[in-house]
Amino acid sequence: MSKMKTLSLLSLLFFLGLNQQVHVTGDDNFVYSGFAGSKLILNGAAMVMPNGLLDLTNGSVRLKGHAIYPTPMRFRGLSYRTVQSFSVSFIFGIVSPHPSNGFTFFVSPGKNFSDALPTQYFGLLNDQNNGMETNHIFAVELDTIQNSEFQDINDNHIGIDINSLHSVQSDSAGYYDDRHGMLKQLTLVSGDPMQVWVDYDRVATLINVTMAPLNFAKPSRALISTNYNLSTVLTELAYVGFSSAAGKANARHYILGWSFATNGPAPAIDIRKLPKMPHIGSKDWSNVIEIVLPIATAAFILMVGGTIFVLSRRYLRYRELREDWEAEFGPHRFSYKDLHHATEGFKNKHLLGSGGFGRVYKGLLARSSLEIAVKRVSRDSKQGIKEFITEVVSIGHLQHRNLVPLLGYCRRNNELLLVHEFMPNGSLDKYLLNEDGKRSLSWAQRVGVIKDIAASLLYLHHECEKVIIHRDIKASNVLLDNEMNGRLGDFGLARLYDHGVNSQTTHVVGTIGYLAPELASTGKPTPLTDVFSFGIFILEVVCGHRPIMKNEEENHTMLVDWVLQHWQNGSLTDTVDTNLSGNYDNIEACLVLKLGLLCSHPFMHARPSMRQVMQYLNGDIPQPDDQLMPTQMSFELLSLMQNEGFDHYIMSFPSLTTSYEPPVLPGER
Ligand SMILES: *[C@@H]1O[C@H](CO)[C@@H](O)[C@H](O)[C@H]1NC(C)=O
Ligand SMILES: *[C@@H]1O[C@H](CO)[C@@H](O)[C@H](O)[C@H]1NC(C)=O
Ligand SMILES: *[C@@H]1O[C@H](CO)[C@@H](O)[C@H](O)[C@H]1NC(C)=O
Ligand SMILES: *[C@@H]1O[C@H](CO)[C@@H](O)[C@H](O)[C@H]1NC(C)=O
Repeated sequence: MSKMKTLSLLSLLFFLGLNQQVHVTGDDNFVYSGFAGSKLILNGAAMVMPNGLLDLTNGSVRLKGHAIYPTPMRFRGLSYRTVQSFSVSFIFGIVSPHPSNGFTFFVSPGKNFSDALPTQYFGLLNDQNNGMETNHIFAVELDTIQNSEFQDINDNHIGIDINSLHSVQSDSAGYYDDRHGMLKQLTLVSGDPMQVWVDYDRVATLINVTMAPLNFAKPSRALISTNYNLSTVLTELAYVGFSSAAGKANARHYILGWSFATNGPAPAIDIRKLPKMPHIGSKDWSNVIEIVLPIATAAFILMVGGTIFVLSRRYLRYRELREDWEAEFGPHRFSYKDLHHATEGFKNKHLLGSGGFGRVYKGLLARSSLEIAVKRVSRDSKQGIKEFITEVVSIGHLQHRNLVPLLGYCRRNNELLLVHEFMPNGSLDKYLLNEDGKRSLSWAQRVGVIKDIAASLLYLHHECEKVIIHRDIKASNVLLDNEMNGRLGDFGLARLYDHGVNSQTTHVVGTIGYLAPELASTGKPTPLTDVFSFGIFILEVVCGHRPIMKNEEENHTMLVDWVLQHWQNGSLTDTVDTNLSGNYDNIEACLVLKLGLLCSHPFMHARPSMRQVMQYLNGDIPQPDDQLMPTQMSFELLSLMQNEGFDHYIMSFPSLTTSYEPPVLPGER
């Protein structure tokens, strides 16, 4: 009994020991991009400000300040006796109205600096122990005073200190520009944030110190590079931290970010998350006030007048329309001002294009530096807006990799602004028609885009909470993201145009050439009218033609009829875009073309659902041959419609999005 207890206790001990070993051999690293909520040990004057800025000296005189990482780092592994490679990076800023001492980054066996002296001793050493090997201290000093006792080179230097504040090597603050290799000076007390990297290489026993202004990549050439075997200095475990103790009032030594790693480069500090440094003037206020006060008073009066003027102008310029019911859509509501700034006042140079629904501008949101596309839809009627926005916002919740993400909206006077994520590669039709110098797409890219759009429609029709009908599927509404994936845009917009009109008249919206024939009689969009447009879209992508083609004699042919004719003549693949120069998969091309024809079948019940379309595309069900005998296909209905009133539109706006009154077919009304 007691034997078993001992045994399990032993194995527990063994287990704990093993665990510890795992920790011991693991590499230590950390990264702070700002210090809010960090658990650093802060001594003396050091404190973390509410915004996450670490202040080592807090403006007090001769008061030591230390910020230390709470657990010691393992500098020597158990398996090897030499000090391992390590890497440190930190971002600092010094504000010092009067010449005062700087600060150090240190590695030290202990964290009790109660015996250390302030000012030139940086709160790290004292006059007794300075220079002694028993210190086991390695430090990098950023010194802003020239001290003759330690033979400092000037009052703006960075130095490597080993057990002593008499640096083994030091140099004026600066960095080697990567482009020209020139040495550029930096001023430590400039108040500007700068970054420092300290790297120790175990094999070469080389210490490198590199500096650069904030936002600069690490220069490839180090400012100081010196050989020193730190295995003769550092203890197995040692603390890392910063120390300072200013000699003059109001000097501040801020650390904005800090990272550390053993056996690898220090992790990157996230520059965007860094806390801001407060800006403190470097001059004495008392001197300044006498001169500045009278000027300031006059300026103040001018400013108040100016502000009133500017504010009232701004009010008019950025005025927008907001109603109570919109409160629940808060997060999706953009302010007109932000959109105005993002697009530099909707300048023409940011115009991406204009279509039936309005103009589209490219913009850059200042706060998030997110690229956006803003569509301005003008509307005279307020009717239907609420339903539309409810839908827009619910669509905004839709997440699918083949939909253009809708970020939100804004309203103003008679305008609705829709904010989408910007798609860098523009719309698909430009590629198909070789416009704007866009090169044509490969076969694999074309099939990819067809599958992408099929996936997005499958999602809208079958996979989200309620069925969403897109109503305006066409190549110009398909955008390519930076990986050339197809993404469907402009969903729901067509619906907006449906609202707000007299409900007595049937009003069809969409684009000529993509409209299912039954829309003319029913005027009611259904998922199958989307499938029809998708079929035309497939043909467009494969053939590289618009849905209504013009030949040399200016005659108009429907793309779908042309493809059908070729199939009947047994020359289906002659319709494949000649830009591909024959580089395509024959079997795949036939499948896709037949699927396009099947989807754009004039009889809606002959069309497949998007779920079936997906199965055809994935090869899960065989080619759609048997559903579609060439002889059975008839587009007479379409030609009939053309004769009954479509001609005008087809002739004048072959590619324009427009709305029209459907012709009354015999038997209606
Ligand atoms: C600086 O910190 C010390 C110690 O925490 C404190 O006593 C002193 O009041 C602080 N000084 C300022 C100016 O905040
Ligand atoms: C630090 O060291 C001093 C003497 O060197 C000692 O008096 C003091 O108690 C130590 N402080 C802590 C927190 O250990
Ligand atoms: C140290 O600096 C030298 C000279 O710039 C460079 O050749 C070397 O690769 C650097 N070593 C490390 C570990 O950064
Ligand atoms: C560095 O010092 C350690 C300990 O004295 C020694 O074992 C090692 O060989 C030295 N390394 C080099 C490269 O001299």
